[in-house]
Amino acid sequence: MPESLVERAREALDNAYVPYSEYTVGAALRTADGTVYVGCNIENANYSNSLHAEEVAIAEAVKNGHTDFDRLVVTSGARDGVTPCGMCRQTIAEFADEDLDIVCDLGDGETAKYTLGELLPNTISLDTLEAAAEKRERDE
Ligand code: THU
Ligand code: ZN
Repeated sequence: MPESLVERAREALDNAYVPYSEYTVGAALRTADGTVYVGCNIENANYSNSLHAEEVAIAEAVKNGHTDFDRLVVTSGARDGVTPCGMCRQTIAEFADEDLDIVCDLGDGETAKYTLGELLPNTISLDTLEAAAEKRERDE
């Protein structure tokens, strides 16, 4: 039986590098063709260079030619239902529609499910910039 996305995200916690926060985060991202990429957070002594679990999973997917996302699961060692931060929400939005399901692990088989549109409504996208470029051309 294939492992669930929640299990894949939890496995990724094992590789989290978190000497500063000691707060592990794991992400499992399923792409349109069913391929799963996982990521963990990777911290840095300068703090601001820290990579988030979602960013790492997204980078793996895009690097391998997968830019269409189907489902994202996020977990933390604390099993506190952590959701992607604002920065990660915007990065996810680059490759997913508002109806993307984002599932957050609450432990004990419980999850909280959101859509990307609920977590990040009305954000800037490629469409925004293309529409602006078209308007500039019309106005010239
Ligand atoms: N973290 C993530 O990996 N993803 C998020 O979207 C929220 C925050 C990580 C960054 C840092 O290593 C730790 O959680 C505490 O903020
Ligand atoms: Zn983040």
